[in-house]
Amino acid sequence: MTTNKETKTNIFNNTNDPSEFFIRTCSSEDLDEVIEVNEKELPEDYPYFFYKSILDDFPECFLVAQNKHGKIIAYIMWRVEKAPSANSLKYINKAHLVSIAVSEGYRRKGVAKSLLANSMTAIKKYKIHEYVLEVRVSNYTAIRLYEKFNYKIESIKKNYYRDGENAYFMTLDVNDY
Ligand SMILES: CC(C)(COP(=O)(O)OP(=O)(O)OC[C@H]1O[C@@H](n2cnc3c(N)ncnc32)[C@H](O)[C@@H]1OP(=O)(O)O)[C@@H](O)C(=O)NCCC(=O)NCCS
Repeated sequence: MTTNKETKTNIFNNTNDPSEFFIRTCSSEDLDEVIEVNEKELPEDYPYFFYKSILDDFPECFLVAQNKHGKIIAYIMWRVEKAPSANSLKYINKAHLVSIAVSEGYRRKGVAKSLLANSMTAIKKYKIHEYVLEVRVSNYTAIRLYEKFNYKIESIKKNYYRDGENAYFMTLDVNDY
């Protein structure tokens, strides 16, 4: 990981051709473009302050991908939540995937894999026990992506989305990544 002097953000290693895109941490100046990607690619949208509070609280794992012209073409954001452990009354830290999206023209190039891999490593600093996420039961593409990282479907959350669609609740033990 190196520091980009121009943006003062961290740049991560990509497995793909760096001339196509690179991954770095998000900064507040990027949020308008992140919101633009979100609004184009996902039905779930959030107010600006929501993105800002996630960025303020968990900056190491809020990553963006930019193309060679500097345009943001993808993002991923996580938050850490305290939740009861499945096996005891203890509360444990869980890394909750809030949102990931890749602009349509940049899909199937490994951008999401790279965002997930780098952010899942970065979030370990919060001493998390597991990674958790929700995904629409119809979102075959995203489900395949998460399965690639060994996430397993733990349960179904009925009517999870505003339009009434169910979600798969998928989890991965931190020791399995
Ligand atoms: C899901 C999404 C983030 C994947 O982004 P991406 O950059 O195209 O994904 P990658 O190129 O890194 O592919 C990673 C893996 O995902 C799966 N995948 C991606 N696109 C796929 C497709 N069209 N069909 C089947 N599997 C697919 C594959 O397993 C792929 O690995 P492989 O290329 O080695 O086979 C992207 O399609 C997207 O932004 N969708 C809209 C937003 C969204 O649904 N977000 C998730 C909400 S839970």
